[in-house]
Amino acid sequence: MRLDVVTIFPEYLEPLNVSLVGKARARGRLDVRVHDLRAWTHDRHNTVDDTPYGGGPGMVMKTGPWGEALDTVLADGYETGTGGPALVVPTPSGRPFTQELALHLSGHPWLIFTPARYEGIDRRVVDEYATRMPVYEVSIGDYVLAGGEAAVLVITEAVARLLPGVLGNAESHRDDSFAPGAMAGLLEGPVYTKPPVWRDRDIPEVLLSGHHGRIARWRRDETLRRTTANRPDLIERCAPGTLDKKDREMLSILGWSPDPDGEPYGRFWRRTDGVEE
Ligand SMILES: C[S@@+](CC[C@H](N)C(=O)[O-])C[C@H]1O[C@@H](n2cnc3c(N)ncnc32)[C@H](O)[C@@H]1O
Repeated sequence: MRLDVVTIFPEYLEPLNVSLVGKARARGRLDVRVHDLRAWTHDRHNTVDDTPYGGGPGMVMKTGPWGEALDTVLADGYETGTGGPALVVPTPSGRPFTQELALHLSGHPWLIFTPARYEGIDRRVVDEYATRMPVYEVSIGDYVLAGGEAAVLVITEAVARLLPGVLGNAESHRDDSFAPGAMAGLLEGPVYTKPPVWRDRDIPEVLLSGHHGRIARWRRDETLRRTTANRPDLIERCAPGTLDKKDREMLSILGWSPDPDGEPYGRFWRRTDGVEE
């Protein structure tokens, strides 16, 4: 997979040389290229921003440098035979970044990131490139950062670990929180390692039982408990078909009932009576 990042702070992307992404680069699994947007300015001050039309506070990033930068990056990628570019535009007004979107992006051979500063990029830049390739405007959370570089680091790491051959154990993201498979898109429960006792704290006995069925059941129950506590919205959205009989029993103990009017039938809603805390 090829990744291009155009930014006014190339040094902010240094962490892409470290750990999982760094190793994927070293192994040739990821081809990451970071570009300084100011290389495409033509004035003495390397200006990339200007005052907003319509007035108001803050500055807006100019079309000129972004257009030239993206044209150059695209021409280079096509020349080296990379197909299928997609533009990833970090912005708090984008769609939420989720594991599902990470999985979707990991299927693209080439992602081009446009982390902005100031009040963002002149809208015409996104509109222009949207006529040529898929554009994903993505928010990493309901808060406002000073710039999009941290969002690029977040998105890159989430996408890179899904690429075949990047994680040591290909199975290790199967049971992650939000994974559509075994955990039905819910949260992963607690995990433990040696020693078995630490500061008088034991680990749950079932984990020492060697009984795979009981361990799997315990893990599912912990998933349901933790999701109920921290992200009840995920249980409300959970497709009923992904839950087995024991899951339903546990959900009932945790205060959930199938919603008779739910769509599809069997979705859960939270009772307020006799709920186990
Ligand atoms: C100060 S913010 C601009 C905020 C903009 N005025 C707004 O309210 O939508 C500057 C840049 O930081 C990045 N950014 C800030 N918060 C972000 C978030 N939650 N997710 C992704 N990118 C973000 C984007 O690249 C954005 O253009």
